[in-house]
Amino acid sequence: MEDNPFRESDLSLRNHPESCVLVIFGATGDLTHRKLIPALYNLAADGDLPAGLRVVGFARREKDDEVFREGLKELNKEVSRQGHDEDLWEQFSQSVTYHQSTFTDEDGYATLKEKLDEMEKDGASPNRLYYLASAPEFFDDILLNLKKAGLNKSDTGWCRAVVEKPFGTDLATAQHLNEVVNDVFPESETFRIDHYLGKETAQNIMVLRFANHLFEVLWNNRFIDHVQITCAEHLGMEGGRGGYYDKSGAMRDMIQNHLLQLLSLIAMEPPTDLSADGVRDEKVKVLKSLRHFKSAEDVGQSVVRAQYTAGTLNGTEVSGYRDEDRVNPDSVTESYVALKIMIDNWRWEGVPFYVRMGKRLPKKGTEISIHYKQAPNVLFNAAVGAEAMPGNVLVIRIQPNEGISLGMRSKRPGPAATLQPVKMDFNYQTSFGKSSPEAYERLLLDAMAGDATLFARADEVETAWEYVDQIEDAWHKSTNPPKMAEYPAGSWGPKEADELFEQDDHGWRRL
Ligand code: BG6
Repeated sequence: MEDNPFRESDLSLRNHPESCVLVIFGATGDLTHRKLIPALYNLAADGDLPAGLRVVGFARREKDDEVFREGLKELNKEVSRQGHDEDLWEQFSQSVTYHQSTFTDEDGYATLKEKLDEMEKDGASPNRLYYLASAPEFFDDILLNLKKAGLNKSDTGWCRAVVEKPFGTDLATAQHLNEVVNDVFPESETFRIDHYLGKETAQNIMVLRFANHLFEVLWNNRFIDHVQITCAEHLGMEGGRGGYYDKSGAMRDMIQNHLLQLLSLIAMEPPTDLSADGVRDEKVKVLKSLRHFKSAEDVGQSVVRAQYTAGTLNGTEVSGYRDEDRVNPDSVTESYVALKIMIDNWRWEGVPFYVRMGKRLPKKGTEISIHYKQAPNVLFNAAVGAEAMPGNVLVIRIQPNEGISLGMRSKRPGPAATLQPVKMDFNYQTSFGKSSPEAYERLLLDAMAGDATLFARADEVETAWEYVDQIEDAWHKSTNPPKMAEYPAGSWGPKEADELFEQDDHGWRRL
């Protein structure tokens, strides 16, 4: 048999990650402890970390290198997907140091520059990757101070910025932040993180569509009835999260970014090439084609917002949203959103995209389901007078249990022509024998490689905000705002969300 060069599919489509000094602003925060450092440690465990990489944690609290490393180690033990190996940790953590300063103190940046220059003299890479993982109100200060200290440019290596979410709270603030970022770093060196794009299955959407002719030819309004995107979470407002969340809500926290990104990947046209701009040009086109609403009443017809009330989750009683820690008892912030999105372009005319996300739902899981139209009801069921069967459903499980399944009908063995639903299932774990890397692992490597394909471009973020702003305005600025619905914690959301479906035999798919 001829050797198949693609059998292992080791088609390296990416640039090579380069060594650098990674400076993390907000180094004592949750994101650094739970996501960034464990991601770097996992990469080190797999031997994927560029040699000589150094990490400098920048934060306000008094600490020395040792105390900083100890704190990181404790969390790494808890969350690393590789498990914790003491020898490897010792080796890895030697590359991590701490720099104490407030984000507003210019001197702190001058001393950071001295430290980085010193490291470079000692053989560290001249490349610098600045990761803004602080609270978003400090993004402006950090960026401007990097510029003032001359840290945004170098004659010997590259300088890049990774900006965490939330990227603005509406169009105006996102535009402002884009101006500030792009005054300090060119767009080509700016990496706006949306960690959903780093999830293995999200990356697989383009492969499923554009490397399998079978699906792509059926990927349009002739064959697809509707699409559903669901992100369900168990979590409520644990760990003081209410302080941030109550100012944000489900629409800004997850729909504007993660779920509209997934929708763009599902709905986009094939890009002309796999370059960052080739892909992002197509995603922006989708966002620009989202049908806007005509009035607050129109928003009320297509968008449902809700808060959870007290309920039972996995046998435990939990409080309602308004009784959560750091949440305003009169809060009008939504912990759940469901909406029907129409895309006004040739491919998707008439195909609703139903998108929902909620906190305190019975299960954690994110999935996309493509619901095909029904087969003509002229044979099997019709023969016995039964109703038409629902169409095929293609399910892309983003998490957990990553995989793809196709729901079909099959004849049950036996003399009668009895039909029964069956599934063809592809599961990552069984097919590849290993768990998927964490999203941050891939995204950090891509930023080190200068590949922005899986990061949001300025116009992408702004176009998504434009869409979301009209809904937020209807909720918070109109004289006749659509009402806030309720659902008990541990349930699948408010009944109003079911009413988004026009046809009685359609409804949300159970995860
Ligand atoms: C974050 C949101 O961006 O994504 C959180 O701020 C949410 O509210 C989280 O819980 C979900 O991420 P994941 O990867 O656990 O699905």
